[in-house]
Amino acid sequence: MPTALIIGASRGIGHEIVRQYRHDGWRVIATARKPDDCETLKQLGAEAHLLDVTDVEGCAGIGWKLDDEKLDVAILNAGVFGPRHDGFPSQQDFDTVMHTNVLAAMRLLPILAPLVAHAQGKLAVLSSHMGSLSERNSPRGSLYRASKAALNSVLIDTALLHGPQGVSCVAFHPGWVRTEMGGDGADISPEESAAGIRATLASLAPTQEAVFRNYDGKPIGW
Ligand SMILES: NC(=O)c1ccc[n+]([C@@H]2O[C@H](COP(=O)([O-])OP(=O)(O)OC[C@H]3O[C@@H](n4cnc5c(N)ncnc54)[C@H](OP(=O)(O)O)[C@@H]3O)[C@@H](O)[C@H]2O)c1
Repeated sequence: MPTALIIGASRGIGHEIVRQYRHDGWRVIATARKPDDCETLKQLGAEAHLLDVTDVEGCAGIGWKLDDEKLDVAILNAGVFGPRHDGFPSQQDFDTVMHTNVLAAMRLLPILAPLVAHAQGKLAVLSSHMGSLSERNSPRGSLYRASKAALNSVLIDTALLHGPQGVSCVAFHPGWVRTEMGGDGADISPEESAAGIRATLASLAPTQEAVFRNYDGKPIGW
């Protein structure tokens, strides 16, 4: 039975990815930052761990808990958008967005990559098309864009380090998805996004270089 780890699975896309892998009979390890959300994940048949990705001790602790796991798929999904205005950014907004979307990846990807290497598996982050530098066509959501561009940079470095050990690194744009972050008017459902992400991961040939993909598998420029 293959094993998937989803970090940040209380709701939205991450939660739906857990549900679908469980439905397909995978062993799933999932994290959430509230005990009630861990209980809900357990009801889906997942092994659940409490983790706030901005907590340095929590990040180290998950490394201990996962010691010796073989992860066929590991997905860092947790993320925040931050302020919806593009005015002068507060220190607090900057710290929240960068700590959640970037610093957490800098701490967690080095912990997860060796566990993915054990299975010659796939290591994915939920990035965003908004983080693409080469395909950028709007300055809106500047802090979020900067954080996802930096997240992509962290993933590329992870591939340089761990790609040769058999870790295939993927940054995903999940589509514009009807979640709390995407809003009710977004294009696609969490079910469609999660199904596309899983299918793209399943069909992706092993790669030493990081790749950037839309949820439906189409390549995106960094
Ligand atoms: N929806 C879209 O259209 C869209 C588009 C492009 C990219 N994305 C990316 O896709 C990912 C999932 O987005 P979504 O739409 O499902 O968003 P969402 O519904 O707002 O869910 C965000 C998830 O991240 C978790 N999270 C946030 N901060 C965390 C922290 N400090 N520690 C642990 N977990 C934390 C949340 O947990 P809590 O419940 O505890 O807050 C929740 O499970 C994000 O990385 C987002 O940037 C989404």
